[in-house]
Amino acid sequence: MNNRFYVTTPIYYVNDKPHIGHLCTTLAADVLARFYRREYGKNNVFFITGVDEHGAKITEAAKKENKSPKKYCDGLAKDFQKNWDRLNLSYDYFFRTTDSRHKKIVSKILKKLYKHNLIYKGTYKGLYCIGCEKFLTEQDLVNGKCPLHPNREPVYQNEKNYFFRLNKYEKQIKTALKNGDYKIFPPNKKHEILSKLELRLNDISISRAEVPWGIPIPWDKKQTIYVWVEALFNYYTATQFLKGKSQFWPADLHIVGKEISWFHNVIWEALLMAAKLPLPKKIFVHSFYISGGKKMSKSLGNVISPDDLINKFGLDGTRYLILSTFPYSKDSDITLEFLVEKYNSDLANGLGNLVQRTARLCEKKNYLKLHSVIKKLSLEKSSLLYSRLNNLEFNYVLEKIWKLVKKADTLIDREKVWNLPDKKAQKVLNQVINYILGIAVDLEPFLPETAEKIEKIFTAQEIKAPSKPLFPRI
Ligand code: MSP
Repeated sequence: MNNRFYVTTPIYYVNDKPHIGHLCTTLAADVLARFYRREYGKNNVFFITGVDEHGAKITEAAKKENKSPKKYCDGLAKDFQKNWDRLNLSYDYFFRTTDSRHKKIVSKILKKLYKHNLIYKGTYKGLYCIGCEKFLTEQDLVNGKCPLHPNREPVYQNEKNYFFRLNKYEKQIKTALKNGDYKIFPPNKKHEILSKLELRLNDISISRAEVPWGIPIPWDKKQTIYVWVEALFNYYTATQFLKGKSQFWPADLHIVGKEISWFHNVIWEALLMAAKLPLPKKIFVHSFYISGGKKMSKSLGNVISPDDLINKFGLDGTRYLILSTFPYSKDSDITLEFLVEKYNSDLANGLGNLVQRTARLCEKKNYLKLHSVIKKLSLEKSSLLYSRLNNLEFNYVLEKIWKLVKKADTLIDREKVWNLPDKKAQKVLNQVINYILGIAVDLEPFLPETAEKIEKIFTAQEIKAPSKPLFPRI
């Protein structure tokens, strides 16, 4: 059994501040990293996230602010990191593609591919979407535009580029995927890739002649490496330039949104095959947060920012709301009204109220620890639970935990603890506290701060209700 876990998020473009689309992926990785740290130990887990800094899109954004690309990236990379820190995201390393160590490794790999004739010079003629940093085919277009960037005109390109022989790997990729050498989840995303692979796999352009903000092609400094190619390599290069991390490659899990599935499930594997490197074990492709039927994205101006949520719902309130609406297989259309409702019912009236009323009853009934409480996971660690968690079905796991909240609440109501004489009340309370402490352990990867607070309250010699409820009603 492999007792190590390496999880990654996409590295985000630094052309704007993060929104909840970025947050949901990073938070998903965070929950799994926290869960596996508990299982395998801190040093056996590696979780990276970061930013994608090169390319036309960033050059354009920097220009708008009258800054050099590097200065612009320095500012936004810091913003991203600050946001993630504010959300208590436990990444082990924050990746930046402007890191010279990354550049060096990518250049070396590309040189090797060139030497082995896996890269050749050709001419690229066609459309390009700067928003996606992606070459477009006729089939990609909706009303002549990129469907993810309907406000932008695709640009026509006709330039000499270097091409990667992607076609050479067509059969090998199909076989690897069918044999499970790498896995794509959920299954419908795997089928999507397999059916796309039935069409001819064309070679792809992997350099740009007109985009100076990037890593130069090592043998032709007039060109830079196509931003997607170098970005994909971040998952690997981090394990190579950071001390003591090389054993983490191949990654156990890449979590990505569905719009970048092709890059992660075909192009990435072909590049690794060409470089003779092991393939990642699993790629999880999640759906989108949408708003009014459209993908939530900065360019469409319909985003909810993590800050909006934290200011309203607090840190763990935000984590809960994102995780319980995580679009693991279907797009999730959320509105602020819906989130307020969910917050009030599950957190303010649910868990928060249970904690508050139990602690208050302990005060009233002169509860002193009768038996020592046992700190243990209350959810059964069944293989089903593991698979749900590994399939990012957080809502399923959270619902299970909330069943325990209900159970504890029902126990208090059924026994009418407030009417019982002290001794009898204390006995029931002891049982309730055991439930609550179990819930806290289960909750730790999801809501670490709340779990800690609950544990502190109920393991104290004298239990006191917190002066402010854990989740004030909105
Ligand atoms: N830089 C590339 C990724 C390179 S990885 C080698 C990129 N960056 S991005 O800033 O556009 O981020 C894309 C990722 O953000 C998606 O794959 C997804 O993880 C997340 N999301 C962005 N908008 C989203 C939603 N509306 N809903 C859910 N997640 C989405 O692509």
